[in-house]
Amino acid sequence: GKSGYDHFMLKEIHEQPRSLRQCLRGRVSELDGTVDLDVDVDPDGVQFVACGTSYHAALCGVSLFHEAGIPAQAFLASEYATSPPPVDGDLVIGVTQSGETADTLSALREAKRRGAETLAVTNVVGSSVSRECDQTLYIRAGPEIGVAATKTFSSQVLALALLVLSGTGASRQDVAALRDLPGNVQQVLDESNAEDIARAYDGSDAYFFIGRGLQYPVSLEGALKFKEISYEHAEGFAAGELKHGPLALVTENTPVFAAVTGDDLLARKTIGNVKEVEARDAPVVVVTDGQNDAARYADHVLEVPVSDDRTAAILANVQLQLVAYHAAALLDRSIDKPRNLAKSVTVE
Ligand code: F6R
Repeated sequence: GKSGYDHFMLKEIHEQPRSLRQCLRGRVSELDGTVDLDVDVDPDGVQFVACGTSYHAALCGVSLFHEAGIPAQAFLASEYATSPPPVDGDLVIGVTQSGETADTLSALREAKRRGAETLAVTNVVGSSVSRECDQTLYIRAGPEIGVAATKTFSSQVLALALLVLSGTGASRQDVAALRDLPGNVQQVLDESNAEDIARAYDGSDAYFFIGRGLQYPVSLEGALKFKEISYEHAEGFAAGELKHGPLALVTENTPVFAAVTGDDLLARKTIGNVKEVEARDAPVVVVTDGQNDAARYADHVLEVPVSDDRTAAILANVQLQLVAYHAAALLDRSIDKPRNLAKSVTVE
């Protein structure tokens, strides 16, 4: 059942501290920082294939592998076979919650035909993807009933972070960030003002989401969640791309959500993009950990606890999940079963 929540989606959003703990359980040694996942990979390069929310997790995976010095690319599974890249010893990773998505399965089959090693990152034990790939990494999020993927996105990103750390080893700070993640998500859930913000911007013309680095896929995911359950127009952009076109869409009736955490060059550049939006009189909502001064340029703030850049992306995404949920609830949408959508898409 829904355990007292109005929708499975809200229940599953609130399950994230537990599902993340489950993903970590027994896999990280606090003593020496080794990460053991029961998979044996040591790739020179990585290609991800995935769809929808899982593709956004894969884009996070690209950044995570790049941080570790390993070349990585993410492909929309439905496009992979159209113009297949050379495999060249790359590990091909299929990211799929259900393990049954036809586009992802056929991209993996194409990769196999080209001689690639394949790894499944999935939630479902015994799924088609786990039977067809050479190895499987389970994200252990538990069953997800709501059509909109929520807890499984967080667990996919965490599992990919662990996969990278299983090769490099985890530093003391890495171990601390992983250990603190479930509690930090709980804090976001307990203190979020997402409902007030959804109410403040109910009836807007469109909703835009921007971010860079790991917060770029988070902005794509924030927009996907918003559009699929509210049926309102929502788009995510790389913060730096706004000025190359999308800025023409920005008005006083299009709130812009900017995820900007940390206090590095990345954050400062995104704040520059926030100022561009503010100068066009668009309402600005920043998702921030307060380490930068983004809040100065914002009409509203969604706070997340201070953490490292990897876990900050997961935390910011939880706030955007809640915004999407409350916006859709205000519109009385069919949140757990949005029109025209299915939980697992078994046709190409
Ligand atoms: C969005 C959503 C879809 C799925 C996509 C891939 O909330 O749920 O975009 O992420 O259909 O599904 P899986 O991960 O099962 O391959």
